[in-house]
Amino acid sequence: MKIVVENKKIDDVKADIKIVFVLNKDFNHKWVEDKKTLEFLGFKAKSEECCFLTEKKIVYVGIDSLQSEEIRLASSKAINIIKNTNAKSVKIGTYANECPGVSIKVMSEAFILGSYSFQEYKTKKDPLKLETITICLDDYSKPNASLETAKKAVKVGTIIANSTNYAKDLVNTIPHDMTSVELAKVAQKLDKIDNVTCKIYDENFLKEQKMGAFLAVNRASHIPPRLIHLIYKPKNAKKKFVYVGKGLTYDSGGLSLKPSASMVSMKSDMGGGAAVLGILKGAAQIGLPYEIHAIIGATENSIGPEAYKPDDVLVAKNGKTIEIGNTDAEGRLVLADCLCYASELKPDYLIDIATLTGACVVAFGEYTTAVMGHSCNLKNSLMSSAVESGELTGTLPFNRYLKEQLKSPIADLSNIGKNGWGGTITAGMFLDNFVEDNYKDKWLHLDIAGPAFVDKNWGYNQCGASGAGVRMNLYWMIDQSKKEDN
Ligand code: BES
Ligand code: ZN
Ligand code: ZN
Repeated sequence: MKIVVENKKIDDVKADIKIVFVLNKDFNHKWVEDKKTLEFLGFKAKSEECCFLTEKKIVYVGIDSLQSEEIRLASSKAINIIKNTNAKSVKIGTYANECPGVSIKVMSEAFILGSYSFQEYKTKKDPLKLETITICLDDYSKPNASLETAKKAVKVGTIIANSTNYAKDLVNTIPHDMTSVELAKVAQKLDKIDNVTCKIYDENFLKEQKMGAFLAVNRASHIPPRLIHLIYKPKNAKKKFVYVGKGLTYDSGGLSLKPSASMVSMKSDMGGGAAVLGILKGAAQIGLPYEIHAIIGATENSIGPEAYKPDDVLVAKNGKTIEIGNTDAEGRLVLADCLCYASELKPDYLIDIATLTGACVVAFGEYTTAVMGHSCNLKNSLMSSAVESGELTGTLPFNRYLKEQLKSPIADLSNIGKNGWGGTITAGMFLDNFVEDNYKDKWLHLDIAGPAFVDKNWGYNQCGASGAGVRMNLYWMIDQSKKEDN
């Protein structure tokens, strides 16, 4: 499906179906040509309310404002109706008095996000029939809203959405297919993008690096671990962003085995790894002026005679010893070693993304990412970009009293909190032990356990993987680069 922009009146463009947003319940807008019919049908133009006039081939969607998320929800509602028809082409106009380019970018995003469908394991595929969406600059009143601005907006929106859908594909793929070795092969392919290189490390490197925590998690798996390190390095890069992703291709819980129901969907435990790949891919395709690293600790958490055990003591790359209270708290062990490795790259920003704790889903529900870290400025900066991206975030605060929970009588720290309260925060504070002092204020921990995989459709997201973390971080880096330009 391709999205094109035309500097034409909407009625001068040919398409099978027209989409009309009814903004602010303005039934008198020139594009609402079926006012009487819509009233007769009881259409109130409430946010996300749709009415498909099949004879006239017009989809009307209610929209409260031109705020980005409203446009995304309305665009994806329309596309959800249209994708069930045989329409090959669709047209939509843009609205006056908007910020040039913004609505075009988010429309493009939502058309691509909303039309995603994962059919890899279906014997009968149902391919998207829609081929072209034309965005008409019909109602643009601002002189600076040039065709070029609009085309650039489509390009960026398309890259952001495709990077998100790319992460969804990786997470939705079954764990038997998306192993650590396979994930590394997939990552390697990204080196075809300009300025991207990829290094893949195996267990020998992990041993050399003394990554005893990561290695222990891998021990019971018959599939070897992989440390994936992708680098996007454009000329004259202004800053260095280092992303670290939890890449647990399956989390059975290990010897502290998960109950059957909780194990289902644990193929999504590499959601952080998929997100950092999506972020790097998108950033490189947009051509952001930053050096960006994506580091993924990839393995599964299995059971077997070799498995690491509750009561074991592991030694992480930075020499800290960790007593194991529960082998299901494995993500933080893999991340511990990866964060030590990442700190050595001297980042300006160090961000880890992980499906780390069930407690996070209890605290925030399944749609929200928890943002943790020491610097309020940094947290606020990412979170304000996240709002624009449409991803939901909330913060959870570290504190000195919860830190006590991680004490171990025989090692430097325990991998679980003593009483379980504040499990998302104690997991974040565990990771803090592996971020070097110089980088404490440059570090953010994002727990995506809720939104990475949701078992129902929500907004423009489908049941299954959502690519959580990709959009907020791309928006954030784009915002940072705009600030530097000003
Ligand atoms: N991968 C899970 C966290 C998770 C749970 C992600 C639900 C997505 C949905 C993680 O490895 C885990 O099992 N954490 C334990 C930690 C506990 C043993 C301290 C948890 O949350 O129960
Ligand atoms: Zn676990
Ligand atoms: Zn896990």
